[in-house]
Amino acid sequence: MGSVSVLKLFELVLFILSLLCTCCLGQFIPIDNYLIDCGSSSNNSVGNLVFVSDNSVSRLLSTPQNIIANTTPNSISSPSGSRIYLTARIFNGVSVYTFPIRSPGRHWIRLHFLPFVFQSYNMSNAKFSVSTQQFGLLNNFQPSNGSMVKEFSVNITANELVLTFTPSDNSFAFLNALEVVSVPDALITDDAQTINPMGNYQGLRRQALETIHRVNMGGPVISPSNDTLGRSWETDQGFLRNRNLAKSISNIGAVNYRPGWATSEIAPSAVYGTAAGMNTAEVSNSNFNVTWEFDVHPDFEYLIRFHFCDIVSVSLNQLYFNVYLDSRLVSQDFDLSDLTNALATPVYRDYIVKVSDMRKLIVSIGPSSNVNDAQPNAILNGLEVMKMNNSDGSLDTGLFVPRSSSQKSKTKTAIIAGGAAGAFVLVAVAIVMFMMCKRRRLRTQPSKTWVPFMMNGGNTQSTGSKFSHATIGTTASNFGYRIPFAALQDATNNFNESWVIGVGGFGKVYRGVLKDGTKIAAKRGNPQSQQGLAEFLTEIDMLSQFRHRHLVSLIGYCDERNEMILIYEYMENGTLKSHLYGSEFPCLDWKQRLDICIGSARGLHYLHTGSTKAVIHRDVKSANILLDENLMAKVADFGLSKTGPDIDQTHVSTAVKGSFGYLDPEYFRRQQLTEKSDVYSFGVVLFEVLCARPVIDPSLPREMVNLGEWAMKYQRTGKLEQIIDPNLVGKVRPDSLRKFGETAEKCLADYGVDRPSMADVLWNLEYALQLQEATNQSDPYENSTNQIGDISPLVSNAAFVETSMTAEQFSAIEDLSGTSMSRVFSQLVKAEGR
Ligand SMILES: *[C@@H]1O[C@H](CO)[C@@H](O)[C@H](O)[C@H]1NC(C)=O
Ligand SMILES: *[C@@H]1O[C@H](CO)[C@@H](O)[C@H](O)[C@H]1NC(C)=O
Ligand SMILES: *[C@@H]1O[C@H](CO)[C@@H](O)[C@H](O)[C@H]1NC(C)=O
Ligand SMILES: *[C@@H]1O[C@H](CO)[C@@H](O)[C@H](O)[C@H]1NC(C)=O
Ligand SMILES: *[C@@H]1O[C@H](CO)[C@@H](O)[C@H](O)[C@H]1NC(C)=O
Ligand SMILES: *[C@@H]1O[C@H](CO)[C@@H](O)[C@H](O)[C@H]1NC(C)=O
Ligand SMILES: *[C@@H]1O[C@H](CO)[C@@H](O)[C@H](O)[C@H]1NC(C)=O
Repeated sequence: MGSVSVLKLFELVLFILSLLCTCCLGQFIPIDNYLIDCGSSSNNSVGNLVFVSDNSVSRLLSTPQNIIANTTPNSISSPSGSRIYLTARIFNGVSVYTFPIRSPGRHWIRLHFLPFVFQSYNMSNAKFSVSTQQFGLLNNFQPSNGSMVKEFSVNITANELVLTFTPSDNSFAFLNALEVVSVPDALITDDAQTINPMGNYQGLRRQALETIHRVNMGGPVISPSNDTLGRSWETDQGFLRNRNLAKSISNIGAVNYRPGWATSEIAPSAVYGTAAGMNTAEVSNSNFNVTWEFDVHPDFEYLIRFHFCDIVSVSLNQLYFNVYLDSRLVSQDFDLSDLTNALATPVYRDYIVKVSDMRKLIVSIGPSSNVNDAQPNAILNGLEVMKMNNSDGSLDTGLFVPRSSSQKSKTKTAIIAGGAAGAFVLVAVAIVMFMMCKRRRLRTQPSKTWVPFMMNGGNTQSTGSKFSHATIGTTASNFGYRIPFAALQDATNNFNESWVIGVGGFGKVYRGVLKDGTKIAAKRGNPQSQQGLAEFLTEIDMLSQFRHRHLVSLIGYCDERNEMILIYEYMENGTLKSHLYGSEFPCLDWKQRLDICIGSARGLHYLHTGSTKAVIHRDVKSANILLDENLMAKVADFGLSKTGPDIDQTHVSTAVKGSFGYLDPEYFRRQQLTEKSDVYSFGVVLFEVLCARPVIDPSLPREMVNLGEWAMKYQRTGKLEQIIDPNLVGKVRPDSLRKFGETAEKCLADYGVDRPSMADVLWNLEYALQLQEATNQSDPYENSTNQIGDISPLVSNAAFVETSMTAEQFSAIEDLSGTSMSRVFSQLVKAEGR
């Protein structure tokens, strides 16, 4: 706590210092300046820019699994020996960077890629999309051979930038380095000239731009450390239609920035001090153009910035020339000295063009036709070609889907750039108070202490006798059941690749058979991953304490020879997810689906309440619900689990972990972990079970991409039946569907306090099952007492009230929660013979 506020103060001081520097020294110092060397454990510099190890900024990243790749300097051709390309992060699921933005406005977003091969990941085969909250940057992008930097500039008006990496189907994403850096406001103004038709364009401030080319005409490559704003400039040689017609000119010392014209931030003197001119000495007839060609995409508009600086004339009004863009004359008899009334004054011109030729943008300069000039010439000093977002907010072809609006951040404590000492103290006090309130809220959260209910063998001890029942806080070292590596080699046919049944960030999962005939699934971790080790220990710790028929059992583990292998009971029928879509499994009927939901709800309920301290799973999703040979559901994958909620009092800013699409927005916003985050994720699973589609499907129309949001829209408007799995149509009783939909809806409440507990969820799902099974009864509303059989009047009454649900009545029922409710519930279950 203390260290957090000190850190905030420190950041504030830095912020104010940087403001002062900007004002007083005239040199632009970016207020937001994130340079990250992904996957690196050390800081590395490129020129004078320091890319920090992403260990120090891991709080900014939320990714399903931490996969850190590295290679050796010899195996790749890293540009100028730069070390930032030797490591990368691999994202095998949707991954999100969230950058706090202190200074709203335009920012560079630079993504550095250099594919290499790491373990089973050949990055040349990666395919993924990248987006901000508002704009699509890359869509189904496949990085080409060799290193590349993708540079975007986006006006960020929110107080954070959310950068999302979404792997395309069955692929993954990667990133070697990342920059998010403030851009001076004056760099891109609001207006430009359009050329077809000629006119004025306004609205550039709202445009996202991608730098396609930034060229230093007639001059050398300029590296980021030589540019005033960390940009790179390429040479024009590769773009010239006919190199013989062009001549390189250099006179850097002459460049004279003058107020009112281009500044050194617009382009450095290394750009304005060199130019391409007409090579009149070599070509006898001086009536020709110098022409450059650039590949562009016909579906997009481009912002073209010309940089001019007359470094060739010795007196005013000597140089007149024409400028053509896309074969149109945009400047006729252009006289720079007439414009600026001086020589060597840097000037730029912005044009917006949509190419008329299929895929080529053509830029030419040529002699003025009207002036009878003894020494005709024409110059161009620099050129920038920037792609503009289309009307879908995308900079790439294909559909772009903005991130769900539910992730929109709440305004944080505003940091006011007062600079005055008074304001400074006020802000500091506000931050400290904010942090304290946050803590208090956590502490006063009601703790659940009621007894877990264990119906029909809730706590079966199938293989439990093999284990010493450990208490909270045990680690692998004092957990009892070690399996020799040799026995596992034997069981898995020496980790035969064809026995792999799953691959995750942690490693591969092999099926196998132990000597005694027990079928196992062996999860073999990657020993290099520190994160992996933590998850390994967590999982052993959790699973050795919690034994339940709806939690996957751990049979043992192996830590010989630096191995990290977890051995589980084998689940014949794989994941729930694979039974819902995208595989060959036969379709599950509604009752089977309800049984699976009920089973997994029991597993989670046990986790939340089965020990003195609640355990939060943190990664509830259909891929972590496994099915045995009888389709009985078991919750798996405890690698991210935490005992909560007190863990977060010491880790106020624990990095948000979990899987995208299932992630509790409140947890995301406030980084507070409670059992209700699992309830939220479980609600998403319920909709997934009902609709049988992925929770995030970027290939769908925008409003359908996020299952949680989409289904909630239909649920709220009472039209849920319109979007259920086609295989279920006509087979789900309306009451059962209604109950199920309401349950899922409650789980997805925005605030954790409004969500039901897992016990309530379980109760409601059981009830949905009863409503489904009451097939032969004329009306379950009237006959609800028959349906639930011979149980206490309280229960039948409660059940009756439930069916005619009003908001007040529901809350009346919820008041029954706690011990009494669970007792009622288990009686109900017994009565039903379940
Ligand atoms: C990297 O740089 C950051 C910020 O300058 C610093 O906090 C961190 O300790 C450095 N890390 C290493 C490994 O040098
Ligand atoms: C990686 O993929 C690329 C492109 O598919 C292929 O050319 C290359 O041979 C692969 N490298 C390895 C080591 O598999
Ligand atoms: C990748 O680059 C290497 C050397 O730069 C080249 O030999 C190879 O043909 C390239 N491969 C592809 C698929 O472009
Ligand atoms: C960013 O957008 C906002 C809102 O459209 C605008 O007020 C602001 O001037 C823009 N900033 C820049 C630097 O373009
Ligand atoms: C870039 O900077 C280095 C040193 O900082 C200098 O030696 C070099 O000449 C510069 N290059 C250009 C093109 O300005
Ligand atoms: C220069 O290019 C423009 C546009 O393509 C063309 O109209 C003009 O005739 C060219 N001038 C010469 C001298 O070739
Ligand atoms: C680019 O996106 C902005 C903001 O969404 C929008 O106002 C603008 O119209 C888009 N540009 C084009 C060319 O459609």
